[in-house]
Amino acid sequence: MTTPEHDATLFGRLRADGAEQVLFSHDARTGLRSVIVVHDTTLGPALGGVRMHAYADEHAALDDAARLARAMTLKASAAGLDLGGGWSVVIGDPARDKNEELLRAHGRFIATLGGRFVPVNDIGTTQADLKVIGREAAPVCDSGDPSPMTALGVLEGIRACLRADGADGGLAGVRVCVQGVGNVGSALAGLLAAESAELVVADTDAARAADVAKRLGARVVDPDAVVRTECDVLAPCAMGAVVNDATLPELRCRIIAGGANNVLAAPGHAAALADRGILYAPDFCVNAGGLVFLEEQLLGHDRARAERRVRQVGARLAEVIAQARRTGVTTTEAAVDLAEARLRAARARDRASSA
Ligand code: NAI
Repeated sequence: MTTPEHDATLFGRLRADGAEQVLFSHDARTGLRSVIVVHDTTLGPALGGVRMHAYADEHAALDDAARLARAMTLKASAAGLDLGGGWSVVIGDPARDKNEELLRAHGRFIATLGGRFVPVNDIGTTQADLKVIGREAAPVCDSGDPSPMTALGVLEGIRACLRADGADGGLAGVRVCVQGVGNVGSALAGLLAAESAELVVADTDAARAADVAKRLGARVVDPDAVVRTECDVLAPCAMGAVVNDATLPELRCRIIAGGANNVLAAPGHAAALADRGILYAPDFCVNAGGLVFLEEQLLGHDRARAERRVRQVGARLAEVIAQARRTGVTTTEAAVDLAEARLRAARARDRASSA
């Protein structure tokens, strides 16, 4: 039973996060337990993942969903999209607990939000699972892998960073270290190789790293050594918290720009990177290409148009870097400021039109 004290804490937390709504759902027949956070719909429907994971408890599930939902709001706003941010998590082991009835039950709860939350697959779910959810809720993002477009946006982001660093944005001979060559990392490595970058790759899956290296003529380094490898650009494309207290003094790159989410272990690491003279492309800005692609798909536009818009990730990042330099803040602060300014302007417009 929830105590009033606990309620206050929960609402206090939502207020602090700026979240609009949280839906806790339970389906007795299938045993579904899910949390959907609709963080902000000022700019449009909240798009976000369906993550299935055996969370320790519902607080851990809520924490994950709340953090990811806010990041989606910032990402969509910074990318200039007409989308809001949200996230949903299903509590359970995908290998053991996932089945059609459970996914359909989650879909029915998503449907109660009347299109305010648009789901896409994430860890523990596949596009096939989204098609099942889509039999109960609409719209859903269930076609087309966004990873190649995420990689294309990262490539343009790297180019913008090189220009901001005084170079011409060409990649020939630029040494880029790609950490993790899965969906995003391998696509990025392919794009970099096509522009004659000097490629270094690392992956905890040694066979995958070897395969990419052979195909693209890259050098493989040990996953534990990747952050210490001397390079122009470190492109994290695996897990988060790559920049932390332990790795910070070891970094030997000029630029960090990659596909991974939550690259900084703590907000303070943004200033620490700047102090070390390392240009950091805020993760939610530089990895927004996939989200741009999903919006284009929802709008029914073709791939060529999507690609043109994804390439604008570089221009937006250049604006963020320029703003950070003008105002003496970190690139992360500048990116958050730009995203929040767009949200504030939209809210003011909404208020003016309803007055
Ligand atoms: P993925 O699972 O296909 O690839 C991740 C790769 O990293 C795998 O090959 C894995 O073996 C490797 N890896 C894991 N830990 C590692 C470590 N410590 N060192 C080196 N390699 C390691 O995932 P995907 O889809 O490529 O996503 C990569 C990152 O980009 C994730 O953080 C994801 O959240 C983020 N992202 C992905 C988007 C997409 O369009 N797929 C969009 C935005 C962000």
